Amino acid sequence: MNNKLAIIGGSGLTELQGLEIIKRQVVETPYGSSPVVYGIYNNQEIVFLARHGAKHTIAPHKINYRANIWALKQIGIKNIIAVAAVGSINPAFKNTEIVIPHQIIDYTYSREHTFFDEEIVTHIDFTEPYCETLRQKLLVATEAHSKAVHAVTQGPRLETAAEIDRLETDGADIVGMTGMPEAALARELELCYACCAVIANEAAGRGKAEITMAEIETNLINGIAKVQTLLSNFIKMND
Ligand code: HPA
Repeated sequence: MNNKLAIIGGSGLTELQGLEIIKRQVVETPYGSSPVVYGIYNNQEIVFLARHGAKHTIAPHKINYRANIWALKQIGIKNIIAVAAVGSINPAFKNTEIVIPHQIIDYTYSREHTFFDEEIVTHIDFTEPYCETLRQKLLVATEAHSKAVHAVTQGPRLETAAEIDRLETDGADIVGMTGMPEAALARELELCYACCAVIANEAAGRGKAEITMAEIETNLINGIAKVQTLLSNFIKMND
């Protein structure tokens, strides 16, 4: 599976530690360009894509999700592990823990969210938004929460306490800003896509104080270290 695997890195993961870089390529697509890195990771060739750019300068609502997903399809990728920082709504999910969500609620707006906006109208099935085969393989590779409803908000600001109450009422366990339209675009192109979420903070109104970038960054350092272990286990187990 791995020679066709891409890892999309989010906040805290703009480069993959231990990745021996072979080639950097800016892939041109009908939707714009997307910079990907080819490398060897635990003896397997993989592709890495930094969703927020190499210097973490692209905000969630400005990411060219269509170019990224199209580029991965174009270079022959079949499986995508998408790493994302999230806040926890459900108190069972603690800072720095890993969550492999099984469902999504999309609250984003004004993002280019489909490849099917010209010519023939196509409605993809999205009942189960993540690739279950890949989800199960990730769960074997590490200790993680095996189910969660992932709410995706527009950002880049964090939510209000009342917005988080509403997301909880809707059934959400975690909240992030980049899970959509990425997952739906991957499904449109028939790619196997799963999310590896890292808890960076307690969502608004759920912690003791206001949420600071310093807190998020500290939790991400520890959480991303766990993600690196997960990824390296995953690759060793699926070569
Ligand atoms: N809300 C939305 N996105 C996030 C959060 C949050 O609390 N933390 C990290 N990404």
